Amino acid sequence: MATNITFHPGSVSSTERVELLGQKGVTIWLTGLSASGKSTIACALEQYLLHLHKFAYRLDGDNVRFGLNKDLGFDEKSRNENIRRIGEVSKLFADAAAISITAFISPCRTDRDSVRALHESSNIPFVEVFVDAPLDVVEQRDPKGLYKKARAGEIKGTPQNQTVYVQDFNFGIEFTGVSAPYEEPLKAEIHLRTDQEDVRSSVRTIVSYLSEKGYIS
Ligand code: PPS
Repeated sequence: MATNITFHPGSVSSTERVELLGQKGVTIWLTGLSASGKSTIACALEQYLLHLHKFAYRLDGDNVRFGLNKDLGFDEKSRNENIRRIGEVSKLFADAAAISITAFISPCRTDRDSVRALHESSNIPFVEVFVDAPLDVVEQRDPKGLYKKARAGEIKGTPQNQTVYVQDFNFGIEFTGVSAPYEEPLKAEIHLRTDQEDVRSSVRTIVSYLSEKGYIS
């Protein structure tokens, strides 16, 4: 971190902001294998909440890698940094009183735990949602053909003609669930089984949780 920097608190406290806007911020962190349903659920949830006139905003792995994180690949260090940055961004949105919905594989438990700690240290609720479907099911779905490529040993180098800025990008690029680990959550607030339930049901589960906790009214 740089030296000679000073944190400037605003003129509006978090409590005042919540009162003025009539909404409390929260981060809903979806984690799971590729093709487990994170993005689909995140989109449906965002749409549902916006139709309730709630300020909801979605951050999605693929999308964020076109902009903010376009310098990052899929080696372990890059994934750590990807999640660190998104954790910070998500916290900023939630601090601004948004229902911040993130859809990232976020395969490392310690990365997710760090993001949780970051939120909790600022008294911002963090809801970890395990979007769970067995590997054989997500491999069957394979909407982007990435599992097929991974099994064929074709996931190497840069994905989808992405510009590379990081010099060590080509080292250790593996596909989650096939050649790179996915560490399942141990203490997720919500566990969805997308091989056994449809998107509406998953959205209902999340919305019920938010209501029960008083995060939405
Ligand atoms: S991570 O692990 O949290 O940093 O990944 P994330 O930012 O969520 O990006 C995952 C999406 O990138 C595509 N993709 C890959 N995923 C995993 N491993 C490798 N090697 C890879 N290469 C490209 C893929 O479309 C993921 O999207 P989802 O929606 O999860 O299928």
